[in-house]
This record gives sequence, structure tokens and C-alpha cells, in this order.
Amino acid sequence: MQVKSNFKPNVKCIDSVEVNCLDKQESVQLATDLSTKKEKVLTGDRATGQLHLGHYVGSLQQRVKLQDMYHQTILVADMQGLTDNGHQPQKVASNILNVVADYLAVGIDPLKTRICLQSAIPALAELTMYYSNLVSISRLERNPTVKNEIRSKSFGRSIPAGFLTYPISQAADITAFNATLVPVGEDQLPMLEQTNEIVRRLNHIAGSAILTECKPLLSKVSRLPSTDGLSKMSKSMGNTIMLSASEREITKAVKSMYTDPGHLRVEDTGKVEGNVVFTYLDAFHPDIDYILRLKEQYRCGGLGDGKTKKILEECLQETLKPIRERRAMFIDDKAQLIDILKRGTEQAQEESNRVLTSVKQAFGLNLF
Ligand code: TRP
Repeated sequence: MQVKSNFKPNVKCIDSVEVNCLDKQESVQLATDLSTKKEKVLTGDRATGQLHLGHYVGSLQQRVKLQDMYHQTILVADMQGLTDNGHQPQKVASNILNVVADYLAVGIDPLKTRICLQSAIPALAELTMYYSNLVSISRLERNPTVKNEIRSKSFGRSIPAGFLTYPISQAADITAFNATLVPVGEDQLPMLEQTNEIVRRLNHIAGSAILTECKPLLSKVSRLPSTDGLSKMSKSMGNTIMLSASEREITKAVKSMYTDPGHLRVEDTGKVEGNVVFTYLDAFHPDIDYILRLKEQYRCGGLGDGKTKKILEECLQETLKPIRERRAMFIDDKAQLIDILKRGTEQAQEESNRVLTSVKQAFGLNLF
């Protein structure tokens, strides 16, 4: 069976966005644009490495859409990145601008989305300190997300205090921007539950609803597996494809992808479930019917892994080429990246200071 594709790379959202250095007039436009949208969305990433295809599928693509619908803030979470990297802070510091370049490269537009830096917003640290009096250690230890992370990082008894308490800092992030919607995967739901507990406690103390509870914006896409199909995606394990990946790196990654170990010859019947090549084709190939037919053929026998990998490679090369090129352009102009981040951060400082003032007031700490 000869299967034909009418493949067109799905990069519309990317080439339609032009990001320029913001001048004064544009930043006024930014403020007006944002104030007309009602619901506030907050998302963020720990700045511990460049972003990869897992981030692209899991959150970045969604953020490009969300920025047209909501008042969106993206936090470069460098302080949170330190919670398990205190011994190697350069891993965080050296990746802040990488993450910003990744955002811009995929089409996140600073005229529509406020991009800001956590460590440069003092109210976030202050709010964390106040909220930490409303949460018990045992409650933190019961948080399933943290529990799993502690287990997988094998901290033993040496959990950094900052790590155990990062849900409190995340609650500070969410409330500081009055976020009502937080895009998360299922595994992050306990974080939002913990945030809303803090919100309710604080509102109880204040005697009025000074903070707003947030709702999850659950993403429908399932998590992209690592290229080896086994472990968590990580650059150091070489099982991921970075947004900055060169043509050669993409070729190499696709060649080494995990398929069906029982599918040895072209004529053998093959398994599609758990076959990373097909999972990636599902995530990236725009022609769903074509992929369905390929799967059918693979199951019946007569389709080799060489062929499926070639189709995937072509598709990933087309998807990543414009992203890589835009990223290279942004990373080349550090001054512009810093300027974008600084402007977003300045606006975030104002908004979060207002929330901090009302929280301090709730505690009666407003003498002057
Ligand atoms: N926890 C997120 C991550 O691991 C980063 C983050 C920090 C965040 N603060 C946030 C996400 C607030 C959503 C809302 O990458």
C-alpha cells in the first residue's frame, strides 16, 4: 500500500507574529491591550534549561493561543529553579535569557503576553513569607506533586527548605497577579488546591475576599514521551529535542527513537502504542488521516521503521526550522531580550505590590 501525504508544516502561528523591540508607544499599547481582557492567566517555567519539544507540545503552543484570549502573564521562575539547584546556581542564571528566547521563538508576543522575571519581583518573596505562616509542614509533605518530586530526586532527609515550600511560593506567584486561570497538567492540580487553601485562609483573616481563587486550565494534550520512550525528558540524558536543535541533532534524535522492539523486518506486524515515532507523528504531523493510514499499515506489516522515521524527520525539520532561526536571531540580541523582560517585570512589580499591600493590611501590618 502506497500512502501519500499532503503534508504542510503547521507553523502558521509562528510566522504570523513579528516581535520587535518595544518602544514607548508600543508599551502603552501593551497596557491597554491587556486591560481589556478579563480572565487572567498565569503560567511559568523554572529557568533550569532551554525549552524542548515537550514544552512546545505541553504548554508553549497553548500559550500562543491563550495570549489572544486572556490577559496572560508568563513568569520566568528563576527563584523556583533554585529550589533544587542551590548548589549550582549558574544552571539557573545562565538559562534565564535562553527561556525568554524560546518563548519569543515559538510566537509568544510581548505585546500580548507579559513576560517577567520572578527574582526581580520582591513582592513574590514577601508574599511567600507571609503565606508560609498559614501552611503546616505536614500539609506540604502531603502535597502529592511535591511528594513524588522528593522521591524522584532522592533528597532523603536533605530536602532544601525552599523545595519543600515551593508550593507556597507558587501560591504567591498566582495570587500576586490575581490569576484566575492556571494552565496545568493533571499532576499539578494539588498545587492549585494548596494555593486555594491559602487564598481561603487569608480571605478569612481579612474578613473579605481580597484574593481570588484560581481554576486549572487543563491541557488536553498528553505528555510527549522522551525519544528513548523510557525516562523523563532531559537534555543531559540526550533523550529530548531542544527547540534550538540543529538539523543534524534532529536527524540523530529521530534515528535513535524507540519504536517497537518486536518489529524487526519491514514485513513484520508492528505495535503503534508506545511507539515513540507514532506518538510524535500524532503530536506534530498535520495530516491526521495520513497518520491513521500509516498506523494501519504498520500494524498489518509492510511498513519499515526507516520509512516512518523519515516521515517524522521531515515533519520535525519543517516545524523546527523557523523556530530555530527566530531563536538564533533573538539570542543574538541579548539587549533586546533583557529589555523585553525588564518591561514585563516592571508592570508585574506594580501589580504585585498592590496585592502585597492588601495582604499586609489583612495582617494589620500597615502602620506606615
Ligand atoms: N512550577 C512551574 C514549573 O515547574 C513554574 C512556575 C512557577 C509556575 N510559578 C508558577 C507555573 C505559577 C504556574 C503558575 O515549571
